[in-house]
Amino acid sequence: MKRSKIFQLLQSDGPQERILIKGWVKTKRDSKGFSFIEVNDGSSLTSIQVIADESLKNYNEIKKLSTGSAITATGRLEESPGKGQKWEIHADDVETINLAPDSYPLQKKRHSDEFLRTIAHLRPRTNKYGATFRIRSDLSYAIHRFFRERHFHYIHTPIITASDCEGAGEMFMVTTLDPANPPRADEKVDYSQDFFGRQANLTVSGQLEAEMFALALGDVYTFGPTFRAENSNTRRHAAEFWMVEPEMAFCDLSGDMDLGEEMVKYLTAFALEECKSDLELFARFVDKNLLKTLENIVSSDFVRLPYREAINILEKAKRKFDYEVGFGKDLQSEHEQYLTEEHFKKPVIVHDYPITIKPFYMRVSDDHETVAAMDVLVPGIGEIIGGSQREERLDVLESRMDDMGLDKEVYWWYLDSRRFGSVPHSGFGLGFERFLMLITGIKNIRDVMPFPRTPSNIEF
Ligand code: 4AD
Ligand code: MG
Repeated sequence: MKRSKIFQLLQSDGPQERILIKGWVKTKRDSKGFSFIEVNDGSSLTSIQVIADESLKNYNEIKKLSTGSAITATGRLEESPGKGQKWEIHADDVETINLAPDSYPLQKKRHSDEFLRTIAHLRPRTNKYGATFRIRSDLSYAIHRFFRERHFHYIHTPIITASDCEGAGEMFMVTTLDPANPPRADEKVDYSQDFFGRQANLTVSGQLEAEMFALALGDVYTFGPTFRAENSNTRRHAAEFWMVEPEMAFCDLSGDMDLGEEMVKYLTAFALEECKSDLELFARFVDKNLLKTLENIVSSDFVRLPYREAINILEKAKRKFDYEVGFGKDLQSEHEQYLTEEHFKKPVIVHDYPITIKPFYMRVSDDHETVAAMDVLVPGIGEIIGGSQREERLDVLESRMDDMGLDKEVYWWYLDSRRFGSVPHSGFGLGFERFLMLITGIKNIRDVMPFPRTPSNIEF
């Protein structure tokens, strides 16, 4: 007999003669001659009630079922007289697959996020984390659907690379050399004897490789893990996170901003529509304003604000910031949040940042003071997208790299793309976890990742 998933049963439009479910006991309550067992199989937030009566041959065993135990139940799907549930199962067979001991850490009570991080291997079994990771799955699908509908091609860019896209040097090294006794040449470690014959690292972004494919296939995107060895312990930084990176040929900064706005709205609308019951949990227990915030994102035009104007607004703000504001200083999260949460109260795209604070690949503007960069800022998070129009002019790119002290030999292939068929092109990176924080209202990036990696934390 084929197993039914509980979310399907909950949508049933009539009683069903015989069904089989497999899942875990959330709670159990006994009354005279009956056991009421709440069973969840992970397919939805809502559990289904299984009713076992004393006529079942193993009723004594059923009475011992505890929270976290695994069972199968077979029986009839019947309309439930109980409040808040449409269907229940009248079981004629209940089998125990695994009886959870009393020491099961997830008894029926609310646990703090901090505690649950220490049992990250068990936390997807809670309502809140189950919902989080179903939404994460649904939105991964939505990302592919968004791009497929727009005829973008999905590119798998490498995870191990020899370049530093962002130029910030925040990379994890990949090596097979013996750290205690590496080969040396001229006092330095000799990486020519390392696995790849040179220094290698985990990628911080798939952009440079994605650009090569945009210049061949037109519109492309990547969606995969990226790594940053930033030693910053904040609620919105992780050492390993997933990034969505579209890259479009024949596209300028304004087209890039259009796509960023369209994508954020599309994914938000998708979540509101397709993840309704899971989202309700967050709207009830995590952020009372969540649905309003999300609806506001879908319906509002994102503000487009030149960096210079952003600085003006911040300088005039009747508020004290911890970090200094001024042309040439990067926006800190407190500034980003002021702009999007307090001043405009909706998403803001800041563009045309100073050249001095941005990576080498961004297109230099005519004023030579700014580059064609853009960041999308959203309430509650700050920066969620970082992108730019890329420098397509070989001579300008080379001189920028020289100015920044980059080794052009390492990037010979990147420069080659500007020698042959170079065209204006643009793209951006959306931090997938930050987006999930926006959608769920969860305040810490550690709680939207299955097994988060942050400084001093790699237990699981
Ligand atoms: O702004 P970033 O550094 O941009 C890039 O990496 C470009 N190469 C992207 C591109 O143009 N193709 O990162 C992009 C986004 C940020 O806006 C943020 O949402 C997220 O990635 N991000 C992080 N998310 C979690 N933890 C971190 N340490 C992150 N660093 C960046
Ligand atoms: Mg950025």
